[in-house]
Amino acid sequence: MLKPLDWQSAQGVLRVLDQRQLPARSEWLDCDSPESVSEAIHCMAVRGAPAIGIAGAWGAVLAARAAAGETDWRACFQSALQNLGRARPTAVNLAWALGRMRGLADTASDSQALAEACEVEAARIEREDLAANQRIGELGARLLPKGSRVLTHCNTGALATGGHGTALGIIRSAWSQGLLAGVYATETRPWLQGSRLTAWELSQEGIAATLLVDSAAASLMGAGEIDAVVIGADRITRRGDVANKIGSYMLAVCARAHEIPFIVAAPGSTVDSALLKGSDIPIENRSADEIWWAAGLDKPMAGITTHNPAFDITPAELVTAIVTEEGIASPMNGQGMALLERSDSGS
Ligand code: MRU
Repeated sequence: MLKPLDWQSAQGVLRVLDQRQLPARSEWLDCDSPESVSEAIHCMAVRGAPAIGIAGAWGAVLAARAAAGETDWRACFQSALQNLGRARPTAVNLAWALGRMRGLADTASDSQALAEACEVEAARIEREDLAANQRIGELGARLLPKGSRVLTHCNTGALATGGHGTALGIIRSAWSQGLLAGVYATETRPWLQGSRLTAWELSQEGIAATLLVDSAAASLMGAGEIDAVVIGADRITRRGDVANKIGSYMLAVCARAHEIPFIVAAPGSTVDSALLKGSDIPIENRSADEIWWAAGLDKPMAGITTHNPAFDITPAELVTAIVTEEGIASPMNGQGMALLERSDSGS
């Protein structure tokens, strides 16, 4: 299975598979400081909400090691974590993982103990994410009748997580159970996570897939070719509003117009129970260059401004189901994230 991150304890290095180069080249970046991990997250060498959280946790291990020997090692550690937390704003998984690491500083007797505790915790966060994804895959596959044709957006696979994937995990599990007739993957503009990463993962698994430009999704639904939309999430509020890759909201509107189930898959670490409404989620705006590069220009055209949000919000009313490792919620019924089906029932 593909792994986006590779922790090398003895060297004190987090190796990051540079997803900006995929699939043309498999290049690894060696991050040996919390600042370099933060930069790898910011520039999207590692991306995808759960993977960002895991990278942040390893960044905290490097922060704890860097703080060793400092008189004020707790303050150094906390300040490094604060900087790491600013790397990308929308996926709550980063803040969640850093919160788990931050708590360790309260109980550690010295900086050496803190570094050791952080390393154990980061490995646990990574392991838990893989287990959560496998459970999400099993649960989510139950929502797909045999012969389903599923449309997915962005990349939610092994590259975006601790392994298996969230929405792509459901697709992997459903495919291995013989439930899928095929998968449609959007290219996902402007960064092309769909055509560069999802298509690559699907092709390596031998899963029958068709790639389409984002704007072809509505007509495909209209033609009766899609039985379910299955996507991931970067942050989910208590009422079930979902922040995910730009274009997700458009897919949800189209899915509703065509009476197609809109299914969201995410681990519990993506649920932000501090927030009720999607409008409170910070949305990352990215550089104009990302749009102009696709037009073959290396600088903005004179007199033209750009609008390049990385994420949008799908309101709960359009979300048929949210699958987490804990169970399945159905926000469109007005019950928010209350679980209708619990993970421990029925298997
Ligand atoms: O900008 P990205 O590539 O980090 O955006 C990723 C997404 O929007 C994913 O759908 C989401 O993070 C879930 S990944 C399991």
